Amino acid sequence: MDKTEKKKRVLSGIQPSGHLCISNHIGAMKNWVKLQDEYECVYLIVDLHSLTVNQNPSELRQRCYSYIAQYLACGINPDKSLIVVQSHVPAHAELTWVLNTITYLGELNRMTQFKDKSKKEKNINLGLYTYPVLMASDILLYQADLVPVGADQKQHLELSRDLAHRFNTKYSPTFTIPDPFIPKQGGRIMSLQSPDSKMSKSDDNPNNYIALLDEPSVILKKIKRAVTDSNTDIKYDESRPGLYNLINIYSAYSGQKPSDIENMYIGKMYSDFKNDLAEIIIESLQPIQKEYSKIFNDKEYLDKLLLDGAIKARYIASKTLTKVYRKIGLVKKIR
Ligand code: TYM
Repeated sequence: MDKTEKKKRVLSGIQPSGHLCISNHIGAMKNWVKLQDEYECVYLIVDLHSLTVNQNPSELRQRCYSYIAQYLACGINPDKSLIVVQSHVPAHAELTWVLNTITYLGELNRMTQFKDKSKKEKNINLGLYTYPVLMASDILLYQADLVPVGADQKQHLELSRDLAHRFNTKYSPTFTIPDPFIPKQGGRIMSLQSPDSKMSKSDDNPNNYIALLDEPSVILKKIKRAVTDSNTDIKYDESRPGLYNLINIYSAYSGQKPSDIENMYIGKMYSDFKNDLAEIIIESLQPIQKEYSKIFNDKEYLDKLLLDGAIKARYIASKTLTKVYRKIGLVKKIR
């Protein structure tokens, strides 16, 4: 890239609910790390989003710190990227209100994640419904060009694009139209016990996921218990969802192609494959866990990072919000 050329911007975020797990790592965070050199990156802990389900306040606060330490331990470099707590930048909530006014109910009714969550949740609140609009604000405030996420966020991303386009058309060009960045393989990691549903960090059954901070013995146990099928050969075949998912995880952490993995296990048993897979995951997570244990207790350092992130993020966000308020006709704030 020409040195005078402005870097494009990447933005993404994770809800601090449940245990950060390998599906978040494979689907999103591995790409976050890779994109840091080429792009100006903003990585959010979307704490406002997490309020859409019941939270224990002190656990939520603790979890936010834990997530920040895990972002760092996974390789997010604060010298290159901004790490920002969503609630530290009031413009997220402010832009959400404006975008609410150009969002159609029909669009929110179509959101599959809302439909799924409202089947499971007892607390179906308005926040859960307008959740995708807050996500659009996260993205559009920073004029993000690229949004690295897993496949489950595709529909939300489409809404962000539609809202950006709608606003730009109604007023004048204001928002960058963001592109999704979804891994071709690993964009949808499935539950270990029910490979027909996605692996989720807030699943009630911990055997369904592997948390980034799971101990080696726990990882081995979860992989050994993972559902496969009654066949004996190791084949990368979508119609065998349990094994297909495990091969995707193997591939993500070993860097090997599924076809090479198939060849390596010709004539071998599921137990050989599973033992090796557990070993590969354990080895990949070990450096992350080591780094995490060094950082997590250093609250002073984490607070300093968050302050730095918040100051820079507020500056970027306020430029967009000021423009938006002016275009829609709000009276200029007297300073
Ligand atoms: P969240 O917190 O559910 O998930 C965080 C990231 O992990 C990805 N992911 C997966 N990838 C592959 N396989 C899976 N089974 C899997 N489960 C989760 C998600 O796609 C996501 O990238 N709404 C978002 C958070 C958000 C956001 C944003 C993302 C809020 N504002 C702005 C991007 C940009 C969410 O709940 O992700």
